[in-house]
Amino acid sequence: MAADQLSPSAVRRLPLSIDRERFQALGHRLVDELADRMSRIPDGPVTRDPRPAEVRKAFNLERPLPDAGVEPDVLLERLVDRLFDHSLFNAHPRFFGYITAPPAPIGVLGDFIASALNANVGSWRLAPAATEIEAATVRWIAQLVGYPVDAGGLLVSGGNMANFACFFAARAAGAPWDVRAEGVAAGSRRLRVYCSAETHTWIQKAADLSGIGTAAIRWIPTDSHQRMRLDALTRQLDDDVAAGDLPFLVVGTAGTVSTGAVDPLAELAALCRERGIWFHVDAAYGGFAVLSPEAPPELRALELADSVAVDPHKWLYAPIEAGCALVRDRERLRGAFAYHPPYYHRDEHELNYVDFGMQNSRGFRALKVWLALQQAGVTGYRESITTDILLSRRMAGLIDAELELELVSQNLSITTFRFVPERLQEAAADDEEAAAYLDRLNRELVNTLQREGRTFVSNAVVNGKYVLRACIVNFHTAAADVEALPAIVLETGRRLDRRLATGN
Ligand SMILES: Cc1ncc(COP(=O)(O)O)c(C=O)c1O
Repeated sequence: MAADQLSPSAVRRLPLSIDRERFQALGHRLVDELADRMSRIPDGPVTRDPRPAEVRKAFNLERPLPDAGVEPDVLLERLVDRLFDHSLFNAHPRFFGYITAPPAPIGVLGDFIASALNANVGSWRLAPAATEIEAATVRWIAQLVGYPVDAGGLLVSGGNMANFACFFAARAAGAPWDVRAEGVAAGSRRLRVYCSAETHTWIQKAADLSGIGTAAIRWIPTDSHQRMRLDALTRQLDDDVAAGDLPFLVVGTAGTVSTGAVDPLAELAALCRERGIWFHVDAAYGGFAVLSPEAPPELRALELADSVAVDPHKWLYAPIEAGCALVRDRERLRGAFAYHPPYYHRDEHELNYVDFGMQNSRGFRALKVWLALQQAGVTGYRESITTDILLSRRMAGLIDAELELELVSQNLSITTFRFVPERLQEAAADDEEAAAYLDRLNRELVNTLQREGRTFVSNAVVNGKYVLRACIVNFHTAAADVEALPAIVLETGRRLDRRLATGN
């Protein structure tokens, strides 16, 4: 058909349109199914550990791209069942892996609304309500962690991206030449970044992608509690300055990924202020714990940082994805990202989030966080985070009481430990062969626990030992779930030890 043959009066029938009544019917059924499956998560395993081929078969994923369309009712038929049968549930009360929270149901609904609205939160004109709600959410998040409410900030996909945004702000501010235009190689001094050896791997990606290179990272050793050593940092800074390098960024961590350690933030802030170096805190995990009277008081020094990354999809229990970057001087954040191409007509006095971060088109991530903040309130979050911390301590106490479980650390809501069979208790400390066997046994143990679905823990390496790691950022977890863990680990550990020791 030619363009001039298109009828001006014909109702356009799109292959993707769904009329109102049908949308309602499909939506109601979907919500019923989801509510049912979500409520039944605790009754089943954390995961059924499906094989890749099984998953591909369940969804018929190996067929070629279809030419003809399919009715939406057919597409949605049993989809929820199939997805739930082949997924792992971080909303399970015995899911203790990584730092992954269950989704707050209000956030699930928020994401649904955000998707229906489909606001593009890159520019104010395109998303007036969503932009203002994001700005309010960022202010509330700042207030929650004790940071200045007039800080610059935005929501991003998670902790990595929140840290990246702050890193780029620090890079633009720290280089005495126009690093955005000229690149890192244009300076006569080499840019250097400092962080503890326990820092999350986002720092490598940031150093790599920013062009300073991972070799520019100074990994500062930690003390026996996995906190950055200030003496080692000071020495390294002195050495680098003497060698002509340019330290532009020190990264402290408030809740390390492996053990939940909190670096000496106040001391780091003071050192950075004295030397004129940007101080960033990766508070992706621990930041919101500042609300709890049970959290380490050092967290309060977050307010001293030039920038902070926090992660609502961790301890605010927002559905993935939701991270948040906060930069004390909002112009520093804009100064790292803004460009003004001729094809975007914008009022520069309006709040256009495209100027503050890496994304151009942006989704309405703030809605789910804003709704959850209102539903729980500060009091609700304080209670829930405190309960997570207390449950983790209870877990540590139970582990410590078991002869064959060695408690290695407990900070914030992370407990690390390992299984040490009774016969190896003596040898474990100084016998290399026994140490290697224990690493292997505990590695197998993590694997098996993750697959069998009774609980889910991840791993860490602490002081050279391969350990199991249980992190509770889970408002579904109760004391009974924590109490169930030692017996599951002991039974599985003994079973594996018998198998490994006999070679079967
Ligand atoms: C301390 C810390 N920083 C950054 C991240 C990365 O966060 P995300 O997975 O949300 O990108 C994590 C993830 O666990 C973390 O623990």
